[in-house]
Amino acid sequence: MKKVLVVFGTRPEAIKMAPVVKELCRRPDEFETKVCVTGQHREMLDQMLEVFDIQPAYDLDIMRPNQDLYDVSARILLGMRDVLRTEQPNLVLVHGDTSTSTFAALAAFYQHIPVGHVEAGLRTGNIYSPWPEEMNRQLNGRLCTWHFAPTETARQNLLREHVDDAHIAVTGNTVIDTLHWVVASGKAKAPQFGRDESRRMVLITGHRRENFGDGMKHICQAINALSEQFRDVDFVYPIHLNPNIRRPVQEIIDGSRNNVYLLVPLSYLEFVAMMQQSTLILTDSGGIQEEAPAFGKPVLVMRDTTERPEAIEAGTARLVGTDRSTIEQHVARLLTDNEAYRAMSHAANPFGDGYAAHRIADYISANL
Ligand code: UD1
Ligand code: UDP
Repeated sequence: MKKVLVVFGTRPEAIKMAPVVKELCRRPDEFETKVCVTGQHREMLDQMLEVFDIQPAYDLDIMRPNQDLYDVSARILLGMRDVLRTEQPNLVLVHGDTSTSTFAALAAFYQHIPVGHVEAGLRTGNIYSPWPEEMNRQLNGRLCTWHFAPTETARQNLLREHVDDAHIAVTGNTVIDTLHWVVASGKAKAPQFGRDESRRMVLITGHRRENFGDGMKHICQAINALSEQFRDVDFVYPIHLNPNIRRPVQEIIDGSRNNVYLLVPLSYLEFVAMMQQSTLILTDSGGIQEEAPAFGKPVLVMRDTTERPEAIEAGTARLVGTDRSTIEQHVARLLTDNEAYRAMSHAANPFGDGYAAHRIADYISANL
């Protein structure tokens, strides 16, 4: 029996690791599976643990309001030291590019414990965009033993960095497993906040550190201008709990307009329903670039780079940066030009087929 410790700490990691946890737990003869959450996020993580019914064996509870990267990193490293000493797992699994993933992987390396990296090999090539995530990914590429690449492009990125091909498995992205589960469960349900659901809707999210300051200011100004220009369209923005995001959004966006809705973060079941209802999505999120194409929803990405070129190549996502007038032009075009809208709104799913977690468990089973 092999012991696998699955470590995560933020909202998107919970969404994307849930199918891996479930799949490993379905194989009790092979694996003893334990979950450790760092609590890098608190409310936003707990929402997801509830949706996926995951009970962590450990919760490092490291979140402090508005803490910086030094605090986050140091608390994870120290917390993981003790959990790993107690548990001594045969394998640690981490996800993606958060501080949780990199510092949990480093903690495991210090105790000679192999690490599997889920969603490995995404790259922009620019270490400041997204920041610090691109560096976290590259460090994970060195720290981890096994690399579960969601796509062939991600595998090629790893090969370019001289990762051994035998240690890479192309699995698809587990986020598609989760999406399939939500859709099949019939549990996706839009929150009720007084909106007329027959109206068109732009769904908005944002949280990237490199957009703090001017980027967020310009994004908010663009949303004000668009909600003024398109009174027949709703603008719905569930705001991330980071105060560096909440403050400008609440100060700049005119939430008193009757077509603007500023919401708290939504549970995944609610957010999936909102994606399905939306006309288009305006975001700087990573995961939403993978999910929205599955629903045929155009995604305008408020960043200058993306580590998910597959969505751009499929024609369902477009980089629009954070310049106010560029954002306004792109949104206005999709709201007024049927042909432009149709060109971006076909359903495409370059990120997986819903069996990623199964492939990950099979690979571990064959190699651990
Ligand atoms: C983190 C990840 C980012 C990921 C994002 C997903 C790093 C460096 N960044 O960024 O890669 O895309 O999560 O959302 O790992 N907060 C709360 N409650 C919560 C969550 C956050 O109050 O449930 C507030 C706290 O004040 C916290 C701040 O948000 O200090 C920032 O959280 P943090 O995890 O450091 O950064 P994110 O921007 O969320
Ligand atoms: N999401 C959610 N509720 C919200 C906003 C987003 O459940 O109010 C989900 C979304 O569907 C996606 C994930 O959270 O799966 C993205 O998280 P985020 O944008 O915070 O992080 P990133 O993907 O950029 O790392």
